[in-house]
Amino acid sequence: MARLLVIGSYNRDTVLRVTRFPKPGETLAATGMDRFHGGKGSNQAVAAARAGADVAFAAAVGADAAGAAARALWAAEGIAPACVRPRDAIPTGEALILLDAAGENEIVIVAGANGTLLPEDVTAAVPGAAIVLAQLETPMAATLAAFEAARRAGARTLLNAAPAQPLPPALLAATDILIVNETEAERLAGKGGMPATLAAALVPAVAVGVALTAGAAGAHWAGRDGTRLHAAPPPVEVVDSTGAGDAFTGTFAAALAEGLGIAAALRRGVVAGALACRVLGAVPSLPRRAEILAAGG
Ligand code: RIB
Repeated sequence: MARLLVIGSYNRDTVLRVTRFPKPGETLAATGMDRFHGGKGSNQAVAAARAGADVAFAAAVGADAAGAAARALWAAEGIAPACVRPRDAIPTGEALILLDAAGENEIVIVAGANGTLLPEDVTAAVPGAAIVLAQLETPMAATLAAFEAARRAGARTLLNAAPAQPLPPALLAATDILIVNETEAERLAGKGGMPATLAAALVPAVAVGVALTAGAAGAHWAGRDGTRLHAAPPPVEVVDSTGAGDAFTGTFAAALAEGLGIAAALRRGVVAGALACRVLGAVPSLPRRAEILAAGG
């Protein structure tokens, strides 16, 4: 099977459950607190491994208990640590997640060691990968260097532009497939619009196409070749949407690594994203291959 290299973040997630989000200046009592593995990069690596991919992960964590827990997670999930640099004086990344009664979240992250990933850390991991996948919780300079190395090696590049922020044109130019949610798409397009229209508006910026996730409305694909696709999710009871985008992205990338076409990969990603909403916490919710296939993915 073709190897998928994921470059990205690991965070220790602290989830505070609330009945509603606080207003500015307001103090609220949480109804509960949990700690989970998180970080968009690590979540996507785990999602891809559970979907059946051969996954290597390049990341930076602290030389602390959270960093050791992260390495234990990747070992348990069968993920090869292509480059996991423990940074001595810099702690592992953290995320504080407010989760409301409807399963919606608000997230604040502290980059910590994630912010120290260097171009030379990740480029050494590119040889042998058929697909390289990254997000925006680690430095763009490292992602750009890895994508340019991937292009030289004939590998495909997938960028999940999350969390939303402006992108240098060079990074988009080195991207084959852009994966965004509606907020991220609006930020990059500089305008609002219907999901299918937004995906199409972003297509000229990348080499192959754009996958746009739209929550309960599923996902849209717009390709440079003119292809337009939509995949609808199966109905699920939403407990916690944290990690649903990561489930989509990791599973979509795994499906491409398996050799599936865009339509089948989009459907598999959408099913995985929906299934990931049923369980509290990002990593506990990421579905395994058999569940995804049984649900129509
Ligand atoms: O996409 C969900 C993730 O975003 C959380 O696990 C949190 O760590 C933040 O990175």
